[in-house]
Amino acid sequence: MAHEPGCRIGHWYRFSPAMSWERWRADNLAGWEDRVPIHAGPGGYDVAGLLADPKRLSATVRHDRESLGSLAGLDLVHLQCHLGTDTLSLLRLGAASVSGLDFSPRAIAHCRSLFERAGVAGRFVEGDVFDAERLLGGARFDLVYASIGAINWIPSIGRWLAVAAGLLKPGGRLYLRDVHPMAMAIDPGSDLELRLRFPYGEQPLPVTLHDDQTYSGDGTPLANSTSHEWSHSLGEIVEGALAAGLVVSGLAEHYYTEWRMLESMVKDADDRWLLPEAPERLPLLFTLQATKPG
Ligand SMILES: C[S@@+](CC[C@H](N)C(=O)[O-])C[C@H]1O[C@@H](n2cnc3c(N)ncnc32)[C@H](O)[C@@H]1O
Repeated sequence: MAHEPGCRIGHWYRFSPAMSWERWRADNLAGWEDRVPIHAGPGGYDVAGLLADPKRLSATVRHDRESLGSLAGLDLVHLQCHLGTDTLSLLRLGAASVSGLDFSPRAIAHCRSLFERAGVAGRFVEGDVFDAERLLGGARFDLVYASIGAINWIPSIGRWLAVAAGLLKPGGRLYLRDVHPMAMAIDPGSDLELRLRFPYGEQPLPVTLHDDQTYSGDGTPLANSTSHEWSHSLGEIVEGALAAGLVVSGLAEHYYTEWRMLESMVKDADDRWLLPEAPERLPLLFTLQATKPG
């Protein structure tokens, strides 16, 4: 791994003032291309289990189920759908149709192959989330869904929410469950001390991370291990939804994660990762629900 002057030698972060969105995006895309075969393989996203049992849901969608409510009859789009395992699970919850978008060609190829192997229909488009309206041909949806590790790749939550709002039919709903900005601010190396290290709210420059391991799979190292991420404060998220013309109907905070964010976390029987000590200290995820006026 090459280090630029001023960066912290080690594996966590440096700021990158000389870089641009195109370069940040290219680094992030290369990392996501690397992750697809690792996440689809042994120890990864349980693709085989989902295919073997047509009633099975991904853990993420299982955890969404109650707050999502009934999806019966809804046309749904999943932004940044990765392997399509959550998209397939949303279809299994009764959605009338599902579409997915991701900028990773390997991810989209995986989604198409997953749906073909499962014998179900889904529409998948490849490209940047900021081009979603064009990529989806101007289609409008009853539900825009995104979850766990979507908005940290995005420099402006306001722009992302405007895109999401533009994809909704009047009366349609946005469902966003993602990493809480307080959790984004924690230094993972501090483990249970929970030291604040990274920005809580949006900054023009991302936090640049070097980590040659991904969070799922068999430990195969990433060839492209540099990523650039942004946090968005809860205030910026709510203000962004309001500025996009949405009516906020819920903002819930959760004290578990979907992945082992800190070394000492423990998993419960329902695949939720928890802090083993005083979990009430830190919200780890949030769910925003907002509707487009009818
Ligand atoms: C952690 S996954 C989120 C999905 C879900 N939590 C999962 O694990 O299946 C993040 C996804 O965002 C996609 N992504 C990142 N930046 C993007 C962008 N600018 N436009 C479209 N997709 C993007 C990546 O390719 C990746 O598949």
